[in-house]
Amino acid sequence: MKAAMPSPASRHIIDQAPFYLSSGDEVQQFEAAFRAKLPVMLKGPTGCGKTRFVAFMAHRLGRPLITVSCHEDLFASDLLGRYLLKNDETVWVDGPLTTAVRIGAICYLDEIVEARKDTTVVIHPLTDDRRLLSIDKKGELVQAHPDFMMVISYNPGYQSVLKDLKQSTRQRFVSLVFRYPDEARETEIVAHEGGIEMGLAARLVALATRIRRIREQGLTEGASTRLLIYAALLIQGGVDPVTACRSAICQPLSDDERLQETMEELIQDFF
Ligand SMILES: Nc1ncnc2c1ncn2[C@@H]1O[C@H](COP(=O)(O)OP(=O)(O)OP(=O)(O)O)[C@@H](O)[C@H]1O
Ligand SMILES: [Mg+2]
Repeated sequence: MKAAMPSPASRHIIDQAPFYLSSGDEVQQFEAAFRAKLPVMLKGPTGCGKTRFVAFMAHRLGRPLITVSCHEDLFASDLLGRYLLKNDETVWVDGPLTTAVRIGAICYLDEIVEARKDTTVVIHPLTDDRRLLSIDKKGELVQAHPDFMMVISYNPGYQSVLKDLKQSTRQRFVSLVFRYPDEARETEIVAHEGGIEMGLAARLVALATRIRRIREQGLTEGASTRLLIYAALLIQGGVDPVTACRSAICQPLSDDERLQETMEELIQDFF
């Protein structure tokens, strides 16, 4: 007997609760936005927990999650769908956004500013009170499922004026600000995700806190929680802590020799 095909919604459901340590009332705010059918923008530096938070919220709300990583070659049609040739027949295949709109998923557009400008035309009617998706090529207007929610992420750190989001886009989203977690929370996260003991995690976090303070000297962004977890995983895999900090924290951050020296001194202070 043939196994039943999973429904489009169940394919995108997150079965296991992702580990997420909250830093404030972001969970409550997200829930309120979901209930009010408001789109949400997550603002914050790389590797601070935005993607993890969306996965956690999708699981908590029991909604499927469809993620699209935006890039400069992403056209509106990549989100909407296209006609494909199948056995001499042209069939329409929904893109990720259309699927999310139909099944009531949370659609997470990661790094939205990277996408082509034509995507805003698609996003605007969907993120105001109309909640409509217009599929021009198909001549179809789709009213979003009541549980559909759009979430976008945005890193204000490395946007140029040219690539900044338009006010008319920005002003359609409730914006939640993400920062690196405080030291106690970040220690717990690094210990949990990196599989190391709390004392060692605390030292990695202390090192990161110091590195984040030298940002003024030319680092565009501080050491992310993600990099601390990388260092923890290397240590867990048998690499000595000093080498792990160099390879997983300092080198990814900068190629500048002077900055490397400063960071090297900091590593020596902590390990
Ligand atoms: N609050 C948190 N709770 C649990 N894990 C966290 C938290 N913050 C960060 N992490 C850990 O840090 C890693 C990086 O976080 P995440 O991928 O969510 O970053 P991001 O903000 O989406 O970064 P980017 O902008 O580069 O996509 C996660 O895989 C997770 O292990
Ligand atoms: Mg992310």
